[in-house]
Amino acid sequence: MLERLHELEREGLRDLAQATDEEGLQTWKVKYLGRSAELGRILDGLRTVSKEERPALGKRANEVKRAFEAALEDRQQRQASARLTQALQTERIDMTLPGRRLACGRLHPATQTLRQIVAIWAEMGFQVYRSRDVETEAYNFELLNIPAHHPARDMWDTFYTTTPGVVLRTHTSPGQIHVMRARAPEPIRVVLPGMCYRYEQVSARSEIQFNQVEGLAVGRNITFGDLKGTLTAFARRMFGQQVQTRFRASHFPFTEPSAEMDVECFVCSGTGCPVCKMTGWLEILGSGMVHPTVLANGGYDPEEFSGFAFGMGPERITMLRHRIEDIRSFWANDLRFLEQF
Ligand code: DAH
Repeated sequence: MLERLHELEREGLRDLAQATDEEGLQTWKVKYLGRSAELGRILDGLRTVSKEERPALGKRANEVKRAFEAALEDRQQRQASARLTQALQTERIDMTLPGRRLACGRLHPATQTLRQIVAIWAEMGFQVYRSRDVETEAYNFELLNIPAHHPARDMWDTFYTTTPGVVLRTHTSPGQIHVMRARAPEPIRVVLPGMCYRYEQVSARSEIQFNQVEGLAVGRNITFGDLKGTLTAFARRMFGQQVQTRFRASHFPFTEPSAEMDVECFVCSGTGCPVCKMTGWLEILGSGMVHPTVLANGGYDPEEFSGFAFGMGPERITMLRHRIEDIRSFWANDLRFLEQF
């Protein structure tokens, strides 16, 4: 019997060396380690063997079993690693191939500037107040001290709707009246961003729609000094701490006095270039002290309250910054333009 075990071991190991694939290993396993394999039968038969022979035979049979198991595992591992090596060679991945880029959206350049403007004002304590795009003539004009016969109405070529007296707002200034009426007599610090509409010949310089950011501060003892200081602080945050500003007298029906603010040309630093038309300055916004009539229309006593207001155009600022020459690019939906920002 011991003799047979020796033989069986030799046979088994020799056979195993012939098994070259997964299937061969399975067949071998059934034949040598399976339920009805010879080794199994020997182990089962140990009960019938005499007590003297049993320990040596049992020991040997178990040794053969362990030898088979170890050899099988070794073969299986070798085969697995051989398969891997082969796969690595035949199914090569080309690591140098560039990955596929994910399409990634972004904000419109005008929205980027608008958000930056709003964020600066927010830091300076101004809330965002949203006001409607469709207005009455009263809010768009009369309540802002622009009566029907006023020559300043020429400044705003207007989209009238089929409902009499209802227009698309030509500027964000009517929001001033809305916010004052909602807040009076509390002090106000707000910015009013949004789209405006003008019935104009579309050209490289004018579009029928564009954004504005309006600002309004109302309170007791607000002076023109506050206007200048606050707008200059804004300009420094927006265009850089070193930027020079200047105020030029101007006229708007809803402010008195009125001023336009210029910043030193950020393309040429004030030395003169085509962007600033050789003046060294860029006009950035209109502003002024809120007209007493407008304060009264908003529900504030002009004897007790004062305030300043301003309005600026994000598209215009974006054009100056990036030297965009045609305002029509903003709404043309041309990706070659939009993808640059
Ligand atoms: N509403 C003016 C416009 O559309 C801009 C403006 C100027 C707004 C002066 C203001 C201001 O609040 O004080 O041209």
